[in-house]
Amino acid sequence: MKYTSTTLLAAVASVASAAATHRHGMGKVHNHALRHAEVMHEAEHEKRGTLASAVMSTIQGLGAKAGLNSYAQTSGAWIGSNGPYTNTFTNTAADDLVLFCWGPAGSWVNAIAPLISVPIPSGQNVTISYAEGASGACAPVFGDTSMVNGQLHQTWLEYTFAGIYSTYDVSREVNMAGRSISTTHYKADGSKGCTTDMNTCVFMCSDRSAPSCWFGYELVNCGASNGGGSGYDPKTGGASGGCNGLTAGAGNLQTYLS
Ligand SMILES: *[C@@H]1O[C@H](CO)[C@@H](O)[C@H](O)[C@H]1NC(C)=O
Repeated sequence: MKYTSTTLLAAVASVASAAATHRHGMGKVHNHALRHAEVMHEAEHEKRGTLASAVMSTIQGLGAKAGLNSYAQTSGAWIGSNGPYTNTFTNTAADDLVLFCWGPAGSWVNAIAPLISVPIPSGQNVTISYAEGASGACAPVFGDTSMVNGQLHQTWLEYTFAGIYSTYDVSREVNMAGRSISTTHYKADGSKGCTTDMNTCVFMCSDRSAPSCWFGYELVNCGASNGGGSGYDPKTGGASGGCNGLTAGAGNLQTYLS
């Protein structure tokens, strides 16, 4: 992960200028003449809405903004498997999670609406698509996940999807004690490409006992032999490191969150 001064300034500026948010009531106008059928319909609706409202309370409790959650193609990330780059996120933990993904300079999810905030109940999966040129990160929010300075205090999966320069890596810089992320590229022929996980092709604080670090981090256990190593970040024009070997339409990523 690279915190360029431009990125930092842009993010800090957006935090500073973010308007105070008002929570509008979501109640609907009561109709005392509801027919029985409508009441039944409402009950069904309530049942299906339970998960959605649990997710909303998780997001609000965290102080984060809700994701855009587009099902149509965007220039960033959307829900579905029809993009040039896809990642299937599976929740292998015993507890439910909400997957957040954001775009460039969008990690301050308290101020900038993330691209994605979708629930993944324990044992289930969700596939996210990414556009050519998309860059950002994803992180799981479990019941015990907090925000620190407007960012998710968690392990992050960083990504840049840019043809042969595509790079993805697990980053533990924000929270060295975060939950586990493991991402593997499954090629079109079913064979495995590069894996990034908590110990492999992972960014960690150089001081392993540090709880987190803004500077002083390193890419660990990542080289040509395991499909990683040098990368190129078109956003910063600099080396980025992490897993390489993924190109548009060449299989998909599978991520296990626990
Ligand atoms: C995702 O879940 C669906 C439905 O349960 C299942 O058929 C599919 O195999 C899962 N995919 C992965 C990659 O685990």
